[in-house]
Amino acid sequence: MTEDDPDAGLAERRGVDEAVVYQPAEDSGLLAEAAVAEAHGRVLEVGTGSGWVAQRVAEERGLDVVGSDLNPHAARQARERGVEGVVADLLSPFRADAFDTVCFNPPYLPTDPDNEWDDWMEHALSGGESGRELIEPFLDDVGRVLAPGGVVLLLVSSLTGYDEVLDLVEDAGFDHEVVVEESFPFETLTVLRLERRA
Ligand SMILES: C[S@@+](CC[C@H](N)C(=O)[O-])C[C@H]1O[C@@H](n2cnc3c(N)ncnc32)[C@H](O)[C@@H]1O
Repeated sequence: MTEDDPDAGLAERRGVDEAVVYQPAEDSGLLAEAAVAEAHGRVLEVGTGSGWVAQRVAEERGLDVVGSDLNPHAARQARERGVEGVVADLLSPFRADAFDTVCFNPPYLPTDPDNEWDDWMEHALSGGESGRELIEPFLDDVGRVLAPGGVVLLLVSSLTGYDEVLDLVEDAGFDHEVVVEESFPFETLTVLRLERRA
């Protein structure tokens, strides 16, 4: 059986999806906590992975949530959770002003530049040499899809360079505040709430 074998049984396909899709971890839990507290209106979760964060926001807040991911197995897993899961590269297919809340737990681990991005777990974890290679284009474009009064909830790890991410936030024209923060043995995770600077 190949990963994309259309004849694979549902149970087999679920097993494959779980092996190639990021499953909820501490970072997911922190983003979910912030999103359940802060989300409003129409919500997009970029890089939804298993769809667990998106599902929590939809169920606990009763909001309309779209979960997008580059990985088609992730979009399928999100749909199996009842989330509107779509395949998308960051924000590219979404129209201007489409969402009131955009959440993102990005791939953020700094990675050797010679690393080959040849499997889906690599795409889930690797933030390129700086750890910020997905965060930069996300921040450059997210203002476009935000409706007036919209907010962004962005998970940042100390491994990615907290001050460097704040510089990117500033350059993209956002004010920030910390929603939740938790320290673990190897990193501190923070969820920032971003709003367009007045
Ligand atoms: C750290 S995981 C987070 C998964 C999930 N949101 C969670 O918190 O459990 C990052 C996710 O971003 C997705 N991703 C990586 N590059 C992407 C891109 N260019 N566009 C959209 N999603 C991407 C990965 O496939 C992965 O599911």
